[in-house]
Amino acid sequence: MSIEMPCGKWIVAPSLLSADFGRLAADLERLEADADWFHFDVMDGRFVPNISIGLPVLEAVRKLTERPIDVHLMIVEPERYVEAFIKAGADILTVHVEASPHLHRTIQHIKECGGRAGVALNPHTPLSSVKEVLADVDMVLLMSVDPGFGGQRYIESCTRKISALKEICQRERLAVDIEVDGGLKLDNVLVPALAGANVLVSGSGVFGAADPAAAIRTIKQRLTAL
Ligand code: DX5
Ligand code: ZN
Repeated sequence: MSIEMPCGKWIVAPSLLSADFGRLAADLERLEADADWFHFDVMDGRFVPNISIGLPVLEAVRKLTERPIDVHLMIVEPERYVEAFIKAGADILTVHVEASPHLHRTIQHIKECGGRAGVALNPHTPLSSVKEVLADVDMVLLMSVDPGFGGQRYIESCTRKISALKEICQRERLAVDIEVDGGLKLDNVLVPALAGANVLVSGSGVFGAADPAAAIRTIKQRLTAL
């Protein structure tokens, strides 16, 4: 699948980490009409303390959705798996700057393999760590919780960082999507959006709602009203 990026528009990406893995096909199907992308969290028990899902599950998800799949690699040495994740169905592949000593090379590799390239920063990691690659990436993912688990609280100090990144992108005329991931729910999703993010990930906020599809629609209505 080839997707337009940076897309610059509002994107709501439910995180499958909070889906019911025993009923993944049903969960995907009921969100297919409303989700813009599906966010797919890969954890290795080394970069983050938790282990989640990987290549075989991504292959299965690829067959179940037409939506872009936004793969967030929370793994050490992500460069070793770039090709495999793109072949398995990732449209956007995001690696953590903290895990990527040769970040520029990894970004080029993602693009050569036909993927859109994202780079992710933990809450404590300064924006200066990606300054030199901002012109090369399609998206920057700012973590608004310490990665590893769904259902954590949004770290307020991240809002400043979102605004600062937006300002840099505008000043330097860089077309980059800004994604925020962690602790976003109906009641606070406008906070990162107002600060400059356009891609909003929500796991427990969507899947924990009585009607997950309606939760996405409500988030999108609130975003478009801004
Ligand atoms: C956390 C993951 C997130 C997580 C978000 O490490 O990267 O994508 O699923 O979950 P919520 O929205 O519940 O914080
Ligand atoms: Zn994520």
